[in-house]
Amino acid sequence: MFGNITLSIIKPDAVKKGYSMSILSQIINEGFNIITLKITELSKKSAIIFYEEHKEKYFFESLIVFMSSGPIISMILKKENAVKDFRILIGDTNPINAKKGTIRNLYATSLEKNAIHGSDSNKNAFKECKFFFPIEKFS
Ligand code: CMP
Repeated sequence: MFGNITLSIIKPDAVKKGYSMSILSQIINEGFNIITLKITELSKKSAIIFYEEHKEKYFFESLIVFMSSGPIISMILKKENAVKDFRILIGDTNPINAKKGTIRNLYATSLEKNAIHGSDSNKNAFKECKFFFPIEKFS
């Protein structure tokens, strides 16, 4: 299990603009298996916990306001090399640098409002999956 799952969030900007289904299709077409998914909203308190590692950064306050501004879709995705392959699929954090055809290239509008999240390591994937889905077995 460790190494073949990642946590993704379709962020409030993309959900609001109606991109959710197009993004989900792109994820499935790339061979990711959606193990579990939920439409939810992050309270400010939960967002602060989820983004704790960024708490000293200048953009932290704004990030918390944005991520708690509306519905999100969080999901656990399964695939070999899930973390690495998913980050390729979503593209660079800053959409200006995201390769053509990546999810952020297609749907993001700014560095903050970048449409989608993908875990950045296997360790964080496990931690983030547990945050949204307090279940014992992910696969
Ligand atoms: P993500 O990598 O999913 O999780 C952390 C988020 O912080 C990142 O996406 C962006 O939405 C946001 N972020 C990262 N760097 C900056 C920045 N320099 N300015 C504003 N927001 C940022």
